[in-house]
Amino acid sequence: MEHSSSTQTKLLVFIHFYGLILLCMSAAGLEAATPPSSSTALGNETDRMVLLDFKKRIVDDPFLIMSSWNDSVHFCSWVGVTCNNSTKRVLTMELQSQKLVGSIPPSIGNLTYLTGINLRKNNFRGEIPQELGRLQSLQHLNLSVNSFSGKIPTNISHCTELRVLDLYSNTLIGPIPDQLSSLLDLNILWFDTNNLTGTIPSWIGNFSSLYSLYIGGNNFQGSIPNELGHLTGLQAFSVAENNLSGKTSLSQFA
Ligand SMILES: *[C@@H]1O[C@H](CO)[C@@H](O)[C@H](O)[C@H]1NC(C)=O
Ligand SMILES: *[C@@H]1O[C@H](CO)[C@@H](O)[C@H](O)[C@H]1NC(C)=O
Ligand SMILES: *[C@@H]1O[C@H](CO)[C@@H](O)[C@H](O)[C@H]1NC(C)=O
Ligand SMILES: *[C@@H]1O[C@H](CO)[C@@H](O)[C@H](O)[C@H]1NC(C)=O
Ligand SMILES: *[C@@H]1O[C@H](CO)[C@@H](O)[C@H](O)[C@H]1NC(C)=O
Ligand SMILES: *[C@@H]1O[C@H](CO)[C@@H](O)[C@H](O)[C@H]1NC(C)=O
Ligand SMILES: *[C@@H]1O[C@H](CO)[C@@H](O)[C@H](O)[C@H]1NC(C)=O
Ligand SMILES: *[C@@H]1O[C@H](CO)[C@@H](O)[C@H](O)[C@H]1NC(C)=O
Ligand SMILES: *[C@@H]1O[C@H](CO)[C@@H](O)[C@H](O)[C@H]1NC(C)=O
Ligand SMILES: *[C@@H]1O[C@H](CO)[C@@H](O)[C@H](O)[C@H]1NC(C)=O
Repeated sequence: MEHSSSTQTKLLVFIHFYGLILLCMSAAGLEAATPPSSSTALGNETDRMVLLDFKKRIVDDPFLIMSSWNDSVHFCSWVGVTCNNSTKRVLTMELQSQKLVGSIPPSIGNLTYLTGINLRKNNFRGEIPQELGRLQSLQHLNLSVNSFSGKIPTNISHCTELRVLDLYSNTLIGPIPDQLSSLLDLNILWFDTNNLTGTIPSWIGNFSSLYSLYIGGNNFQGSIPNELGHLTGLQAFSVAENNLSGKTSLSQFA
């Protein structure tokens, strides 16, 4: 009892002290309120701002998912959002098959602790933002069956924790960026049914944990690199419906 009441006193003193600091900070102007040390205290507010920015870019929402994204409940309880229970930082966004129309804001790069994004089967469009490269804990990036356009962002090469990179069925153009050779932990790589060009990179053969590789339904040219034969764990593989040529010893995948 004594212990807990003294803790409470300390807490009150702390809150009082902290409140004073906050007062001083707001008196000094908000510009001063962004030193690195404030990021822990304000981090949850940052996450809230990003989620609201995301909501702002949803232009159609027939199931009214986004109406639950309001301040009557904490954002960790918003539909599709999961948080770390102790830090209240956003961990995943799961908004699969919600018929959402919109785009991903660059501010998503501020969701520092995000480990998974699943927007599969909606109608998201516009470019996939380079800012995703700031999400260095990201393990699942699942944007398949949408209308994303433009090129695959080179910057996701920084998401070296990625296990799933699923961009299947969008309208992406350009080559597979060589920078993505850094994604050595990928288990699933789905780029099929887009309008990608160039050649199939031989460095995919370095992804020793890869078990599913779908890159068909694009405009790739050239031949299937022999290096893909190094992928001994591969269970599913398709390069169908490209403009590939050359000899392929598919027996290497047997
Ligand atoms: C942010 O964290 C503080 C301190 O833990 C808490 O009092 C506040 O309710 C949180 N705000 C949001 C929006 O999570
Ligand atoms: C706010 O969200 C809650 C559920 O999270 C919902 O019950 C309520 O209707 C929403 N409010 C508005 C104004 O949409
Ligand atoms: C939640 O955050 C705590 C403190 O940073 C961390 O130790 C824990 O592993 C996190 N949990 C999850 C599920 O990410
Ligand atoms: C947070 O807590 C809830 C309820 O206790 C639990 O169901 C959920 O799995 C926890 N989430 C994480 C990320 O640990
Ligand atoms: C988040 O990131 C964007 C662009 O990367 C930046 O302009 C913005 O100020 C940041 N802060 C918040 C709270 O979203
Ligand atoms: C690309 O990723 C790096 C590393 O995370 C980051 O510092 C940089 O801001 C990102 N670029 C953009 C345009 O967000
Ligand atoms: C997309 O995300 C969901 C949920 O995270 C997951 O169950 C599904 O397997 C993912 N897709 C792929 C190709 O992994
Ligand atoms: C894909 O490329 C072909 C040929 O370059 C073009 O005719 C077609 O319209 C493109 N499709 C999309 C969805 O961009
Ligand atoms: C792929 O692995 C080989 C052998 O380990 C290495 O020589 C090569 O530089 C790697 N390629 C890339 C693009 O990382
Ligand atoms: C397929 O590739 C050949 C050259 O390798 C090229 O001449 C032809 O135009 C390509 N076809 C398509 C549909 O891209």
